[in-house]
Amino acid sequence: MKGIILVGGFGTRLRPLTTNTPKPVIPIVNKPFLVYQIELLKMYGVNEIILATGHLSNTIKKILGTGESFGVKIIYSLENQPLGTGGAVKLASRHLDGQGAFILNGDVLTDINLDKLYNFHKEKKAQVTISLVPVADPTKFGLVETNENNQVRAFVEKPGPNEITTNMINAGAYYFENEVFDMIPSGVNYSLERGLYPMLLEKKIPFYAYNSNDYWLDIGTPKKYLEANKDVLEDKVNIPALIDMKKSGSVFIGDHAQISKKVRMLSMAAVGEKTIVQPGATITDHSVVGNHCIIEEGAQILGSIILDNSFIGKNSKIVNTIIGQNCKVMPYTFIEGGLLKVIGDGAYIPEYSII
Ligand code: GDD
Ligand code: MG
Repeated sequence: MKGIILVGGFGTRLRPLTTNTPKPVIPIVNKPFLVYQIELLKMYGVNEIILATGHLSNTIKKILGTGESFGVKIIYSLENQPLGTGGAVKLASRHLDGQGAFILNGDVLTDINLDKLYNFHKEKKAQVTISLVPVADPTKFGLVETNENNQVRAFVEKPGPNEITTNMINAGAYYFENEVFDMIPSGVNYSLERGLYPMLLEKKIPFYAYNSNDYWLDIGTPKKYLEANKDVLEDKVNIPALIDMKKSGSVFIGDHAQISKKVRMLSMAAVGEKTIVQPGATITDHSVVGNHCIIEEGAQILGSIILDNSFIGKNSKIVNTIIGQNCKVMPYTFIEGGLLKVIGDGAYIPEYSII
């Protein structure tokens, strides 16, 4: 079985974290986000994965490589200019050898049961099956109306406040029969949501919706990104992506991390590979520290994420904050995120700063 993951978006709402790192490889509990999707597809027998890339594609390639280390084959489909979700699927479909495929939006953390979706799809004799989840505010998503037989009746991408007829939205996981790829135009910017789906309805092509009760989160904003890390720590996402970190109680520890005996790690925390945590430091309240970081003595990390290769100086206190990669937070600094603060990659924060 084959699958396509759409990973060519700009991730604008996660800036500055996504200025140099594409959203699909931003780490969630120290694993590039796409690893969760790769592991999900693998769980359901999809071992050839086509990544539909554009923006920052080389960075994605550098991090994921051929897929061998995950036990799958990754093929890169590269757009010279953004082709939209539909155009990207069309270009990637050249690698499918005439088969149908699963398609995933590359920014959704989910443990959706793809066997159930596929069986539903075959049972309904659908051409396209789309997964649905309920949300409180559908205006940021694709609203999907269905009939009592789960057939899609209407698809409204980013509905206005007075177009809300249901709280069920497109969860961004689909199965397409092979014939569907022929219905998408080549070489032009084309949207699945605004082009293909309305067209399927107009032409009365069998288009069905599978209601998913599984874990689902769009990781598009800093708040959702923090939530995703928290939910993975709490084991709410049923994907075995963290298997290579050691778990002891409510704490995850990466290989070769050096954690001093006098460190307090409480109420869920993770520390990545080769990270050094010095005596008297505290890492708590669902905090995640990345790989190759240094947390100096007495530093306190509360409800925060520190990405790879960052340094947190002695007696600093970081609360409710996301700190990007390669940052230097010098000693005696206090960063209190309030609702949530994001510090971009490579920042230098001098001693005694209060932010
Ligand atoms: N290759 C490629 N090329 N990928 C793209 C392009 C493109 O031109 N444009 C977007 N993508 C990828 C993004 O990287 C993302 O993984 C996925 O397609 C969806 O695009 P977003 O820009 O994140 O769309 P959205 O979040 O506003 O809405 C979509 O997702 C919702 C669920 O989270 C839609 O599919 C909605 O209908 C859906 O409800
Ligand atoms: Mg999105």
